[in-house]
Amino acid sequence: MSGPNTDYDPVEVTPLKPEEVDAMRAAALAAVAEAGDLDALKRVRAEHAGDRSPLALANREIGALPPQARKEAGMRVGRARRAVSEAIAERQVVLEAEHEARMLVEETVDVTLPWDRTTRGARHPLTTLQELVADVFVGMGWEVAEGPELEAEWLNFDALNLGPDHPARTMQDTFWLEPADGGLVLRTHTSPVQARTMLSQEPPIYVVCPGRVFRTDELDATHTPVFSQVEGLVVDKGITMANLKGTLDHFAESMFGEGITTRFRPSYFPFTEPSAEVDLVCFVCRGREPDVESCRTCKGEGWIEWGGCGVVNPRVLTACGIDSEVYSGFAFGMGLERTLMFRHGVADMRDMVEGDIRFTTAFGTEI
Ligand code: PHE
Repeated sequence: MSGPNTDYDPVEVTPLKPEEVDAMRAAALAAVAEAGDLDALKRVRAEHAGDRSPLALANREIGALPPQARKEAGMRVGRARRAVSEAIAERQVVLEAEHEARMLVEETVDVTLPWDRTTRGARHPLTTLQELVADVFVGMGWEVAEGPELEAEWLNFDALNLGPDHPARTMQDTFWLEPADGGLVLRTHTSPVQARTMLSQEPPIYVVCPGRVFRTDELDATHTPVFSQVEGLVVDKGITMANLKGTLDHFAESMFGEGITTRFRPSYFPFTEPSAEVDLVCFVCRGREPDVESCRTCKGEGWIEWGGCGVVNPRVLTACGIDSEVYSGFAFGMGLERTLMFRHGVADMRDMVEGDIRFTTAFGTEI
């Protein structure tokens, strides 16, 4: 039988000795101060303020003390526990603030860094315009015809009533391919496509020919040695200048809006007779008084030059194997760059050839 524990002195419960409690408190506060981040602080909280922490265990011993000693021990332990939980709370605030500040720095996105994604391109506005023009004519039942950019001299000139000695040959500043007598040119207009069409198809012919053409012009705001044209050709029975006028009025309104129609001014082209320059109603002042007088776009004219046209010269029909006694036709041609300038207010043609993506993307991805 075991006797009473004679060593047992409830006043002297070891964990409740002042120096022990002070040591626990000091150890807890030191651990709190040392906690370098929120995770460490969490561990410190469990160790020094949790249910199984030395101070919590000491607290449980209080009941073992004689009543007179309990109060003092209770106050000491209570103060120590409060001090520890206050220190933890303070440290928590500091560490949270540090954490947030660090996240702000670490998660900062440097928007000035070059990105590694491939930029999206955009279709060239001349391409989309070319398709839009083709659509206008396809909508009237016409066909789209294309031909080579490197062309036979005969198709570019001779077939179109521009024989070797024709003075009008010099009107088109031509890039000749070597050898000089090889009979090859970079096409100066899309008219050879019309000759090709007449040579390969029986009338009725209704074709529109968009494409790139070349002339020895200097590159400046209104000229480029490589540019685009759209030409149209109709060969059928009983075709007159009136059909031409109606077609061009419709084309102009489709491009520039209602009321922007055309007028003809007498002109000369070897492949058409009679020939005319096509002017558009000025799309800025619309030729109306009093705006027209001060209009800088048409310089007070009320009209803007757009292209050339005429009734197909019978000599051209004959050269291309079509009976000019039975058939007649009309043809027209205009520059697409000029058309784009008018439609979108592009001031400088160089922007269309320099290939800067910022120019093309500004037109969106119209398909
Ligand atoms: N081919 C002419 C040019 O490039 C334009 C044109 C075409 C004129 C058809 C009249 C008829 O200048």
